[in-house]
Amino acid sequence: MTAVVVVGSGIAGLTAALHAVASGCHVTLVTKDVLDHANTRYAQGGIAGVMFDDDSAAAHLHDTLVAGAGLSDPDAVRALVEEGPARIRELIEEGVAFDRGPDGALVKGLEAAHSYPRVLHAGGDATGSAIEHALVERVRAGAVRIVEHAFLVDLVVDGGRVTGVDLLVDAPAPGGSPVGETARRERLKADAVILATGGAGQLYAHTTNPPVATGDGIAAALRAGVAVVDLEFFQFHPTVLPAHSADGAAAAPFLVSEAVRGEGAVLRDEQGRRFMLDVHPDAELAPRDVVARTIADVMASQGGRPVLLDATGLRPTRKQTSSFLARRFPTIDGAVRERGWDWSREPIPVTPAAHYFMGGITADLFGRTSLPGLYAVGEVARTGVHGANRLASNSLLEGAVFGARAGDVVTADARAGAWPDTAGFARGAA
Ligand code: SIN
Repeated sequence: MTAVVVVGSGIAGLTAALHAVASGCHVTLVTKDVLDHANTRYAQGGIAGVMFDDDSAAAHLHDTLVAGAGLSDPDAVRALVEEGPARIRELIEEGVAFDRGPDGALVKGLEAAHSYPRVLHAGGDATGSAIEHALVERVRAGAVRIVEHAFLVDLVVDGGRVTGVDLLVDAPAPGGSPVGETARRERLKADAVILATGGAGQLYAHTTNPPVATGDGIAAALRAGVAVVDLEFFQFHPTVLPAHSADGAAAAPFLVSEAVRGEGAVLRDEQGRRFMLDVHPDAELAPRDVVARTIADVMASQGGRPVLLDATGLRPTRKQTSSFLARRFPTIDGAVRERGWDWSREPIPVTPAAHYFMGGITADLFGRTSLPGLYAVGEVARTGVHGANRLASNSLLEGAVFGARAGDVVTADARAGAWPDTAGFARGAA
């Protein structure tokens, strides 16, 4: 039986683990905090996918390529959009209750740079949490060995291929749960290792990422000489509550989903002017990099102070707006009010913040990397689906599609004993 170690427990790692078990592997899943503490849990807006008859894979492909600013790999994007619906249906079977209307149909959400409202959400703005919860339940109920509180120290490389991982077990995770006092080194041997360690937002002073997003996977890969690419492509989310509350007290930055602008909220400068109208025909729903860059320029012109996100006009009356915001965006509504703003009555301050790592470990369409036996899936990987700018809500989809692809091929790859150089990796080069 092929022994596989999956490192990371967001949507990509959990999906890879479930698919690897289904393809006959013995799987150990290693995570540096508790199983459900990953970037996935914080994803608000949703998961994009072609789930409606009047949408098409061609349209999703087109939107993704345009947002990626000409630097995406069309074959990778085709795999993403064509296999996305099957993965979303799988999530529904696994118990993810995407929001539905009174008629039982899935509710459509619009986000920036999508030509069709193809973003599904759960719990209003708690999509990632719903997905993480369902997948964690499945993994806990299945045949996966789980090792929590285990920090990835290094990949073990022998004879030109990965043969396992070195871990610090019972290590304190940054900002994570309390752990035992005696951290110890442990080596897990494996025929294949799937890295799904997520992003590295904690490299930046202002980020939407949780404290665990410290780039350990890509760092271990670099130390092992694995090819990486596009490391300069870090996406900034345009609308994040600043690191203070209304009374000036310190508070953690907090993401205000693009779905809020999808519902009609607009951006204003300090004078109340809708500046995005001058910049792009899609105004506040222009691609994310355009909106974030424009906000940074406007902030620079007004002494560094945040711009304003105005959701006050989403419904005809303030009362209706207030109940709509609470129902559609319960998590954000709670965070905004906790920080002392009533966003049904007044625009709220927002700034861009580091959000998503589009570069990463060079991976082919099945997650294979330049190091035989090593796969990379999800945010740690650079499969080419995002180019220079990820389309909103394509990240959960990427984790599901490429996590499954890697899990599906790992046994066959190990049996074949060969490692195709399909992506033309520059071995060891960044
Ligand atoms: C958001 O809800 O705006 C974030 C979703 C994403 O990054 O795709």
